[in-house]
Amino acid sequence: MSKSERDTIDQGTAWEALKAHARDVGQAHLRDLFNEQAGRFEYYRRQAAGLTLDLSKQRWRPETLELLLDLAKEAGLPSAIERLLDGKRVNLSEDRPALHTALRMPEDARLVVEGEDVVPAVHRTLTRMEEMVDKFHGGQWRGATGRAIRDVVNLGVGGSDLGPLMVTHALADYQPEGIHQVNVHFASTMDGSQLADYLTRLNPETTLFVLSSKSFTTIDTLSNARTARDWLLSRLMQEKQGGNGNGHFHADDIDRDLVMRQHFIGVSASPEKMSEWGIAPSNQLEFWDWVGGRYSLWGAIGLPIALAVGMDNFRGLLAGAHEMDRHFREAPLQDNLPVMLALAGIWNVNFLDIRAHSILPYDGRLEYFASYLEQLEMESNGKSATNDGQVTTYSTCPVLWGQLGPNAQHAFYQLLHQGTQAVECDFIAPLKRYDDVEDDATREHLQGQHRLTLANCFAQSRVLMLGDDAIDEPGERPSHKRYRGNQPSSTLLLDRLTPHTLGALVALYEHKVFVQATIWDINPFDQWGVELGKKIAGETEQILASRDGIDAMDDSSRGLIETFWAFEPDQTGSSSRDA
Ligand code: F6P
Repeated sequence: MSKSERDTIDQGTAWEALKAHARDVGQAHLRDLFNEQAGRFEYYRRQAAGLTLDLSKQRWRPETLELLLDLAKEAGLPSAIERLLDGKRVNLSEDRPALHTALRMPEDARLVVEGEDVVPAVHRTLTRMEEMVDKFHGGQWRGATGRAIRDVVNLGVGGSDLGPLMVTHALADYQPEGIHQVNVHFASTMDGSQLADYLTRLNPETTLFVLSSKSFTTIDTLSNARTARDWLLSRLMQEKQGGNGNGHFHADDIDRDLVMRQHFIGVSASPEKMSEWGIAPSNQLEFWDWVGGRYSLWGAIGLPIALAVGMDNFRGLLAGAHEMDRHFREAPLQDNLPVMLALAGIWNVNFLDIRAHSILPYDGRLEYFASYLEQLEMESNGKSATNDGQVTTYSTCPVLWGQLGPNAQHAFYQLLHQGTQAVECDFIAPLKRYDDVEDDATREHLQGQHRLTLANCFAQSRVLMLGDDAIDEPGERPSHKRYRGNQPSSTLLLDRLTPHTLGALVALYEHKVFVQATIWDINPFDQWGVELGKKIAGETEQILASRDGIDAMDDSSRGLIETFWAFEPDQTGSSSRDA
């Protein structure tokens, strides 16, 4: 049955068949699935772009996969992939394409979208980024007092923070040598706590802020930006009045324009708003409406990454992602890593009723990978309206969370092993590490630690799969020492963690999200759910400040606000609590 002949995906033939099939295979323990199928690892292993994906610990049989592939075809997946990659308007509620894949196309490629080849503009931006990065790394980007910039603080939130933060941290080993060192920092929280810390530690003369905001209206970022601007202006102007006597600059030359020009870069899809705020046109990096915030690290939003790892490594990241894009377009569905990872998720969520998903990297450099994926997956697919406006009758995105696997072992693995929740896990690890450490003894130690980490990774997925059967221990055990097992997992191994493989890994998850959205018939590129919260927060702030309008609120909100007011100093400077 084609998509046009049915109402929703769960009314199709494949869905029905999968439901019936789940009643049977859903009862089987993973241990039995391994016993009944020799060569299961080989059967479910897929490789591309320096990544190996092991799906043998999913609770499925070969017939399951056949049926899931039927479901994908019934949902029109092959043509959906083409429409995405060809720049068609796949973001229906905002009526525009989602062209993050264009950001990583090579310079000699062409992608004509609605009559215009978008690749040249993408590469013009990369060239501008490169010029900026060269200036910083050459020690030539100077603050208002003439000293070279040493610290760059990215002010952004959500997609304008999580991607650059995650990649900068993951590729910290890739800092170029022989350059003027620039330290990259991130401040996102609207309460100013991260920023306040930087303001106490950093020198205004050598600090520059990158304002990253696709919309340039996000209050979190703008409130941090205002604080940063006033800090710089007041500190540098103070220097002007008093002079600092260190001979770096002529105090009288410092004016507001100079400070804005030397200490702020803006990255946004709205040049007008950047100009209004005071970002000099030469310091504006633009991107396009057709890049979603959480898909934007590949372009100008990636400036902090390029500053940290250099432009060559940034281009390596893009090349890895592009390799995954090509694989996504060209590989048959059953060999296609994003498709296979997505189908495992669909099977768990919709047919085995497993609605929790944990992301567990076994490599400290991937510390922020889980929080990055939380936004990518849940902001994209946390939806319950189909593309034609119906309410879904099936589950969509699971609750997804995670942290570094070895640390999580000492935190929430207890629940994975013996709790009452079924949880799907993604284990992620590099195969090789530390081979370039110069000192022999240190290298040996660190490689030993890496081996230990891999052993833990493999052991955990095995115990989660087999439960009690993982240990050969005779005799009865009390219930509190029993392990149920049967928790499904996928394992993703990177040959090494490099810019190239990291690019491929991130693109793999982006496409996985798209495949699931296609099957669920939802739009992964909008985020209307967060808009209402922003609007109500604005109104609430007005009430908090003006004390007008509280009577129209619900009892709980009124109570909370009145509790806050009770702490507000009154005209005499004391709070009613003091009284
Ligand atoms: O509030 C959610 C969100 O809109 C995300 O989608 C986005 O990544 C983030 O806010 C930041 O938005 P902007 O880049 O426009 O400041």
